[in-house]
Amino acid sequence: MSDKRYTDIYQRALRDPEGFWAEAAEDVHWDRRWSRVLDDSRPPFYRWFAGGALNTCYNALDVHVEQGHGDRPALIYDSPVTDGGKVFTYAELRDAVATFAGALRNHGVAAGDRVIIYMPMVPEAVVAMLACARLGAVHSVVFGGFAANELATRIDDARPKVIVSASCGIEVNRIIEYKPLLDEAIRLAKHKPGTCLVLQRPQAEAAMTAGRDVDWNEAVAAAEPAPCVSVAATDPLYILYTSGTTGQPKGIVRDNGGHAVALKWSMKNIYGVDAGEVYWAASDVGWVVGHSYIVYAPLLKGCTTVLYEGKPVGTPDPGAFWRVISQHDVRVLFTAPTAFRAIKKEDPDGTHVRKHDLSRFRTLFLAGERCDPDTLLWARELLDVPVIDHWWQTETGWPIAANCMGIAPLPVKPGSPTRAVPGYDVRVLDDAGNDLPAGEMGSITVKLPLPPGCLPTLWNNEEGYRRAYLEQHPGYYVTSDGGYCDEDGYLWIMGRIDDVINVAGHRLSTGAMEEVLAAHPAVAECAVLGVADALKGQLPLGLIVVKAGVETTEETLVPELVSLVREKIGPVADFKQALMVKRLPKTRSGKILRGTVRSMADGTPYKAPATIDDPAILDEIREDLGRLGYPKG
Ligand code: COA
Ligand code: AMP
Repeated sequence: MSDKRYTDIYQRALRDPEGFWAEAAEDVHWDRRWSRVLDDSRPPFYRWFAGGALNTCYNALDVHVEQGHGDRPALIYDSPVTDGGKVFTYAELRDAVATFAGALRNHGVAAGDRVIIYMPMVPEAVVAMLACARLGAVHSVVFGGFAANELATRIDDARPKVIVSASCGIEVNRIIEYKPLLDEAIRLAKHKPGTCLVLQRPQAEAAMTAGRDVDWNEAVAAAEPAPCVSVAATDPLYILYTSGTTGQPKGIVRDNGGHAVALKWSMKNIYGVDAGEVYWAASDVGWVVGHSYIVYAPLLKGCTTVLYEGKPVGTPDPGAFWRVISQHDVRVLFTAPTAFRAIKKEDPDGTHVRKHDLSRFRTLFLAGERCDPDTLLWARELLDVPVIDHWWQTETGWPIAANCMGIAPLPVKPGSPTRAVPGYDVRVLDDAGNDLPAGEMGSITVKLPLPPGCLPTLWNNEEGYRRAYLEQHPGYYVTSDGGYCDEDGYLWIMGRIDDVINVAGHRLSTGAMEEVLAAHPAVAECAVLGVADALKGQLPLGLIVVKAGVETTEETLVPELVSLVREKIGPVADFKQALMVKRLPKTRSGKILRGTVRSMADGTPYKAPATIDDPAILDEIREDLGRLGYPKG
């Protein structure tokens, strides 16, 4: 294999995207072939496989059963937090999905209707997602670590006919009751779903609301299996909300046709995985990694996927990942660097690895946040397999840059996710939209059209899509990541250039946290920024200015603010630290100098901008940061 093979394929995809993706689409079962591979009649909005019709669930399950692989394991559920687990063959998973689709249909769900899924990492979450796909309904999975308020926002935007939930999720040290959160979210939301289908787990019993809530098992017992409904390639498969710069999350839309083609292509070409092999994405179905690489891509490819309800450490020890890999014969693992930092912290010498047979394990992929070279090198030495950093976003749904193991493994440069994946014309631009030479930092963009599988729009908000992603540099999709491309064409992703931060691989909006803090009656002004953290990559830090005349102390106010963010956004925000400051550092035009404060907290060099309102304020802030021990050694 060689650099040339990658370059040839990459160039071919750029030169002839329609030919390239039409070939990839031959690997998917179509009920009706497309009339246009790429519909470019309405730039900057592009649609793939216009005129085509298919069913994603059929391609993920039924087709494998019909091809004689019904006995192959499709889903391995491994749950150290319940001491449980189960294996579903393709035939069993297809049957469970068809029956649950029948239950959804009994409750009025038809093609185009939305269904919100608010569930922990149980097989029923996967079943519910695929059942929606089977009916042509649009699912929207909401991560369990979000609070009622966030769920309510999503209910009002997606307007679901049905919500599927469970009585509880299980964290290392506690049971999270989902049902009170769901009830509160429905109370807060203007839109009311007709039905809630609730899975009762033995760890907690959910109180049911008569006339609205139906027990999962009863709904299934009353249902007949439903067939796959053929939908347009351009019809939405799901909406996944992600953090933007404001408190209002963005509803990323994924279509059926382009998604199936791109994801199936990625399994062999990027991850180097074949049908029948075990592939494990240690993430959560509430995130895009879970959608794409726990559920859809491995099943489209005919692999066995692992659904792991546990953590890298504490369930029960830092050997948990190695146990899962050896027990289930996992060939490829995909997780976030933070998981490896957590393991390294508890088991720096890797003693747990030696207790398990990892001889058949082939490749580790990392994404979700910037991968620091130390973590990559530690993992590589520990596991003695290639460790591949790759870069993507909820919006794209699959990698923008990667070392494509199925095309031609390229030399690894720790700290870089390697090169653009075929289909993505990645450009680094300056503020005026000019291509920057190698080595110069700028805004990382993708020249339109985006390849299949990437978002065609935001849910009910085409104008928002244009504004957020397409307007700044006409003809390009703006990723909101900053970085550069080196002489060898390797990309270096240095971090977000908007107000989004990344905490333990979770994407969070500092703007949303600021909105919550600002609503506290004592707060006059505030700023939230992401400061470096050795374990989680970044952690949010609040700076608070109290209203004149309000009598309070940091000891009283900060815990109140921490609870408020936990209550309004959720524990996943991990907002645990804030400082009361006399004033915020600003430019003369009023822009808060978050970047300067971040550098001060991180102990990295900074230069106060010439436009700073009052340079003396930086001394005050440095002292304030010192109270929390910043900068940390
Ligand atoms: N439901 C409810 N609460 C949840 C939750 C869920 N599904 N997931 C996380 N939380 C809570 C946690 O219990 C924690 O609460 P606490 O503040 O009371 O301790 C809080 O949200 C923050 O969670 P997290 O950032 O995950 O921290 P952690 O200390 O529990 O675990 C890691 C740290 C590194 C082990 C964990 O973040 C991890 O496994 N990361 C892997 C990365 C990953 O899956 N990324 C997804 C994209 S690939
Ligand atoms: P999400 O939409 O939650 O997947 O988060 C996407 C963001 O995470 C990107 O815009 C990047 O800022 C960051 N990210 C993901 N993967 C990487 C990576 N490999 N290297 C650097 N940043 C990454």
